[in-house]
Amino acid sequence: MRHPDNATEPRAVGTTAISCRGLHVRRGGNHVLRALDFTVPRGSITGLLGPSGSGKTTLMRVLMGLQRYTSGEVTVLGAPPGAPALRRALGYMTQSPSVYRDLSVRDNVRYFATLHGKTRSRADDVVDAVGLGSVARRLAADLSGGQFNRVSLACALVGEPELLVMDEPTVGLDPVLRAELWEHFRRLASDGATLLVSSHVMEEARHCDELLLLREGRLLAQLTPEELALRGHNQDLEQAFLAIIQETPDTGRAAS
Ligand SMILES: Nc1ncnc2c1ncn2[C@@H]1O[C@H](COP(=O)(O)OP(=O)(O)OP(=O)(O)O)[C@@H](O)[C@H]1O
Ligand SMILES: [Mg+2]
Repeated sequence: MRHPDNATEPRAVGTTAISCRGLHVRRGGNHVLRALDFTVPRGSITGLLGPSGSGKTTLMRVLMGLQRYTSGEVTVLGAPPGAPALRRALGYMTQSPSVYRDLSVRDNVRYFATLHGKTRSRADDVVDAVGLGSVARRLAADLSGGQFNRVSLACALVGEPELLVMDEPTVGLDPVLRAELWEHFRRLASDGATLLVSSHVMEEARHCDELLLLREGRLLAQLTPEELALRGHNQDLEQAFLAIIQETPDTGRAAS
């Protein structure tokens, strides 16, 4: 599925997809990310979990080269964020879907396919894979909320990126579709892709290899779902996460 023969794509360097050392971000006087240290291995699914406002979207924007950081060292597939060589190697599904409302589902995805040098038939396959085959000709403006999000997801998937960063990709999806998408994500990871997925649905954490737990811009823990259940003394991952949040001293407000 990957294209190692394409010279415009970065070569696989080592086994680390993302590395952050002392990553600090200030936005409008707020300390939004504070001294984050972590690495994400290639070919894995990492869940980015944390309450609203904890910094998930900001971290994703840093990795995509869209958000400046105040200090720290960040590498993405061995290159600094925003490096031109990364352009085709990354897929980003934003929290607010960036979809052309006046184009059909199919044409939206075909457009992104063209940007990534992929064929129309590849685009149509991805439309089917996200369960939109039956509305492929409909204008994006005329879709339901969950369908609209899936167009955005298809646009992120179509380029077969080495690193897929997805901000709440399963929001508004029914349980059947959600399960199908997680299977799809797992297949991508088995093929060597790296996925970083934020979610508010703690039960989705079970599908991930590792979890990054954020709170008020700090990394509370990097652990597996099993370790989360153990550390939070609860098989219900939502309860386990709450227990870990409660055991960690409140550092006060993000602004300082
Ligand atoms: N332009 C800005 N100026 C100042 N603060 C900002 C700015 N943009 C975001 N923030 C703050 O940064 C913090 C992190 O925001 P972010 O969007 O990364 O959170 P999140 O974890 O993605 O939240 P959600 O789950 O609601 O999407 C929040 O406190 C937010 O208010
Ligand atoms: Mg967000």
